[in-house]
Amino acid sequence: MKALVLAGGSGTRLRPITHTSAKQLVPVANKPVLYYALESLAQAGITEVGIVVGDTHAEIESAVGDGSQFGLSVTYLRQEAPLGLAHAVMTAREYLGGDDFVMYLGDNFIVGGIEDLVSRFREERPAAQIMLTKVAEPEQFGVAELDVDGRVVGLEEKPAVPKSDLALVGVYLFTPAVHEAVGELKPSWRGELEITDAIQWLLDRGHRVESTIISGYWKDTGNVTDMLEVNRLVLESLEPEVAGSVDSTSQLIGRVVVEPGAVVRGSRIVGPVVIGSGSEVSASYIGPYTSIARDCRISNSEIEYSIVLPRASISGVRRIEASLIGHDVEVTPAPHTPRAHRLVLGDHSKVQISS
Ligand code: DAU
Repeated sequence: MKALVLAGGSGTRLRPITHTSAKQLVPVANKPVLYYALESLAQAGITEVGIVVGDTHAEIESAVGDGSQFGLSVTYLRQEAPLGLAHAVMTAREYLGGDDFVMYLGDNFIVGGIEDLVSRFREERPAAQIMLTKVAEPEQFGVAELDVDGRVVGLEEKPAVPKSDLALVGVYLFTPAVHEAVGELKPSWRGELEITDAIQWLLDRGHRVESTIISGYWKDTGNVTDMLEVNRLVLESLEPEVAGSVDSTSQLIGRVVVEPGAVVRGSRIVGPVVIGSGSEVSASYIGPYTSIARDCRISNSEIEYSIVLPRASISGVRRIEASLIGHDVEVTPAPHTPRAHRLVLGDHSKVQISS
């Protein structure tokens, strides 16, 4: 059995963070989202992994390499454009050959791994096995309709009027039967070849499609609110460790990780918090559920429930909350007079200012 991990696409919902970088590499507790997917595949006993990549291929390749750090053998499959999840399967046709496979969306985060799911599939081998979970806004997902016995009878991608609140989770298991379905598809209203339609095609032709409803933790990390929530969840189980340097005027409370080469001076850090290697925190307050990536500078500032990406600098600002701060960003206070906001914001930025 192989795995197909989807790490192409364009990530418009995480703009402007992903104008310049792959959304699957945005860190959760200082580790790219994609690494969690690769780790759970390895844990489920899968070793051969094809990663579908697009424009951000160089970044993904340099982060994952040949996969040996995860105990995997990785092959990169270049998709010419993000033409849909089923198009990604077509791109991987030759790589997948006649094997069964797990398809794992590289921006999905599933707590508890996929071992049980994979072993159930290996025993029963339905044409497709999907996972469903209740969501508040089903119109943003693929949505399943079940009959009274709980069997899937219909699937729709991002329906305007959803028939249920059960969304498709981004981990699917398939036998090679899916290739015929994918080959028959027409682009959807959003111009993509939808894997949801391929599964519907299998249903329509009497193939067995099994589903499990999961109540555990799952997030599509495509938006900032979900990213912060996943980050909070992972930080909850952080093991405290101070490998960097913390001076005697600083206070660390609760579960705090200070990575090697990080420096904390005159600051109060209330965990769970992780401070990445090479970062410097001085005269600041870092509050719960915050991840500071490597090589950041934080001085005379307060921040909590946030993710700060590599090389960002925050100086003299209080207080930052529920924020995702991109690579190489500089955050500084506005001068007091004249009282005005001076902004240099990239295309599609979203800023909330109290005035
Ligand atoms: O997260 C679960 C949802 O994922 C499901 O409920 C939907 O049925 C399914 O269509 C999918 O919806 P999204 O709109 O969230 O998919 P997105 O475009 O964000 O792509 C998911 C991942 O696949 C992401 O890591 C990018 C990658 N991708 C996407 C496309 C369209 C590719 O590698 N190639 C592509 O062509």
